[in-house]
Amino acid sequence: MIRKLAIYTLLIILNKINNTINMKNLLEKVTAYSVEYLSSLKERRVAPSVNDLELLKKLDQPLQEKPLEAKEVIQELNEVGSRTVVANAGGRFFGFVIGGSLPAALAANWLAGTWDQNAGLAIASPFASHIEDVCSKWLVQLLPVAKESAAGFVTGVTTANFSAIVASRHAILKKQGWDVEANGLFNAPEIKVIVGEEVHGSLLKALSIAGLGHERLIKVPVDNQGRMKANVLPELDERTILCLQAGNVNTGSFDPAKEIIPLAKKKGAWVHVDGAFGLWAGASPEYKYLTEGYELADSWATDAHKWLNVPYDSGIVLLKNPDNLRAAMSMHGAYLDQAGDRIPYQYTPELSRKARGIEIWAALRSLGRNGVAELIESTCKHAKRFAEGLSNAGYTILNDVVINQVLVSFGEAETTNKIISEIQKDGTCWCGGTVWQGKTAMRISVSSWATTDEDVEKSLAAIIRIAKQKNG
Ligand SMILES: Cc1ncc(COP(=O)(O)O)c(C=O)c1O
Repeated sequence: MIRKLAIYTLLIILNKINNTINMKNLLEKVTAYSVEYLSSLKERRVAPSVNDLELLKKLDQPLQEKPLEAKEVIQELNEVGSRTVVANAGGRFFGFVIGGSLPAALAANWLAGTWDQNAGLAIASPFASHIEDVCSKWLVQLLPVAKESAAGFVTGVTTANFSAIVASRHAILKKQGWDVEANGLFNAPEIKVIVGEEVHGSLLKALSIAGLGHERLIKVPVDNQGRMKANVLPELDERTILCLQAGNVNTGSFDPAKEIIPLAKKKGAWVHVDGAFGLWAGASPEYKYLTEGYELADSWATDAHKWLNVPYDSGIVLLKNPDNLRAAMSMHGAYLDQAGDRIPYQYTPELSRKARGIEIWAALRSLGRNGVAELIESTCKHAKRFAEGLSNAGYTILNDVVINQVLVSFGEAETTNKIISEIQKDGTCWCGGTVWQGKTAMRISVSSWATTDEDVEKSLAAIIRIAKQKNG
C-alpha cells in the first residue's frame, strides 16, 4: 500500500516536472520565433506580398475533432503569421498613425499575458489596479491636462472619446436636474455639440453611440491646416460640449486652445480634447508650445498605442473631475459593489478587461520624461526630413509640417493614387492615401521609436524612385 502511494506521488511529481518542461520549451520556441521576426524587420518588406498572402488560406481549415499539441499550434501560427503580418513593428511603416512597440512595453506585454489579470475589479487584481493608479499619476504629470485629473485605460481613442463624451453628458444633464444614467436621453434637456470641420470620424462615431448623433452637430469652419477658427465660434452655454483637436490626423495641426478654451469656460461649456497622438507633443520641451492652453479643458482622449509605442490596444481617457466618469460608468450588483479609492470599472465602459496599465507603466518607466521627449522630437525630425526630401525632388508638401505628419501630392489625383499603390506594392515602406481639403495626397506619419535615419533615407529614395517612374 505504502509502495503504491509512493509510486503515485512520484508520478504526480514527474507529470508536474514534465508540464513545466513543456511550458518552458513552448515559451522558448515563442522567444525564438519572436526574435527571428524582430531581426528580420530591418530588411523585410513592409506589406506582405500577394504571394505571401496566399498563405492565409492555410489557416482556414475545418476545426479538427482532437486537441493539438500547443507546440504544433504555435508553429503553424508562426509559419503563417510571420510571413503575412504587416511589419508596422519595424521602422519603415508610415501609414495611418501607428506606433511600434518599445522593447520594455513588448516584454511587459508578454508578462501581462502570462499573468492574465482581470483589471476590472481591484479585488481580482490589486496589482493591475495599483499599476493603473501609478500610470494615471504619471500621465497627468506628463501630459497637458489639468493636474487634478485621473485616467481610465481603454482600447483606443474611439473608446476614450466615447467615455469622455458620456462623462460630459452626465455632468451637463445633472446640472439640468436630469439623471441620464437612470432615465436615458428620451425627454432629456438638449445638449449642443460643437466640433471642428476636420473632426476625426471616430469622434463622430463616439457621439453617435452616446446618443448625441453625428448629424445634429454644429461644425466650426477651419483654416487651411484644419484648425478651428476661433473668431467664428457659435453661441456656447452650459449645455454645450465643445470638442477640440490636438493633432489633426492629416496635417498634425492643433486647434487654438489658448484662445478658445477660456471663452468656452466663461460660458460654462464642457471642453473635450481629442488628442489621439498630438497631446504627446506636450511632453516635449521643443513642441509643448503647440499644446498651450489644452490643460484648461475638462476631458482628454489619447492613445498609448500611437506615439507612446505601446502594443495594441491601449487608449487613455482623462477627466479633470473623475466623479463625472465614475458616475457615467457606475454599475451595481451584490458581488460587484466595492470600496476603495479607485474602483477600476468606474473608469471604463468594460467590467472585465486586460490590465493595460502594465505596458504603459513599462513604456513610461523605460523612457522616463527625457525619453518620451526624445521619441516625440526624433519622429518629428524624421517627418521634416521626408518633407524636405520630397520637396527638393519637386513634389508638393500640402501641410505645414508642425509635428510628425506630412502630406505630399505627386500631381493629379490619379497619379498620386497610382504612386501610393506602387509604393505599397514595392514593400520598401508603407504610406497611405488621403484627401486633404479636396486634394488627393499621400500621408506619411512617423510614429515609431524604431524608425532610424537609415530607414528614412531608404524610404525616401524608394518613394522618389517610384514617383519618377510613374510621373515620367
Ligand atoms: C485625431 C484622431 N482621433 C481619433 C483617432 C482614432 O483612434 P483609435 O484608432 O485609437 O480609436 C485617430 C486615429 O488615428 C486620430 O488621429
